[in-house]
Amino acid sequence: MLIIAQLSDFHVRPRGSTGYGDVDTSAMFRAAVDAVLAMDPRPDCVVVSGDLTDCGLDEEYQIVADGLAKLPMPVFVIPGNHDRREQLVRSLGSRHAYLPRGGFINFVEDRFPVRLICLDSVEAGETYGSFCAARQRWLRETLAAGRGKPTAIVIHHPPFLVGVDGMDELRLTDAAALEAIIREHRQVERVLCGHYHRAITVRYAGTVGYVAPSTAHQVALDLRPGTSNRFVMEPPAFAVHTWRPDMGMTSHLMPIGDYGGPFDIVLAGDYPGRAAHA
Ligand SMILES: [Fe+2]
Ligand SMILES: [Fe+2]
Repeated sequence: MLIIAQLSDFHVRPRGSTGYGDVDTSAMFRAAVDAVLAMDPRPDCVVVSGDLTDCGLDEEYQIVADGLAKLPMPVFVIPGNHDRREQLVRSLGSRHAYLPRGGFINFVEDRFPVRLICLDSVEAGETYGSFCAARQRWLRETLAAGRGKPTAIVIHHPPFLVGVDGMDELRLTDAAALEAIIREHRQVERVLCGHYHRAITVRYAGTVGYVAPSTAHQVALDLRPGTSNRFVMEPPAFAVHTWRPDMGMTSHLMPIGDYGGPFDIVLAGDYPGRAAHA
């Protein structure tokens, strides 16, 4: 079984700084790396769906680079709106050889039974994302070259609506073009996003759209129309996507932190069923 850990939205700050008032995003990033290392079995690879840093500073990327270097499995990163392409590639490029030197940070990873297509949705200077004609062309050609092989697309900005107004106004523009391209390719098992700091699943473009939570602060679930995003210190988490030929892809949520257990399940004497096994 292939195991992919999806981490997202580290928002790492320089040494001695916190984010959003008092959120120690860098310590929470290190805890996320430790949580991946503690998994048994360990993931075959890790994808990071953007917002590696909070401000795109070299010092922040150095902390990201050092933390990710502890992971023994391949790690793939894409930028988010809090990243700066040049600084990201300058700081991570030596250890992350797949990163294109210049231009959009689009790349394909084909060594696993699930093909990873990683997309750059950053519109520099903006919080929303974009997917211009050049990126559309690249994706169309890349998907066409991989017909028949299960594929996960990784992109920071969700291209679908989620019904939370504060989130939806930060989504991907040019989303109709992206949806049309994905809809033509039945091999796409998932569109894996970040940006919204909350686990969300939707039906999208004939496949499944998924938003991973942040390893740091989360965004509150606020379904009242017209409200703005506020953050909340719900448990940080990451996603674990598994794939097997007889199963396809499943997506699990892995909270980061000690919540007690695991404990053996002892059935109550009044349980109405039979024990599944002795
Ligand atoms: Fe973020
Ligand atoms: Fe973001």
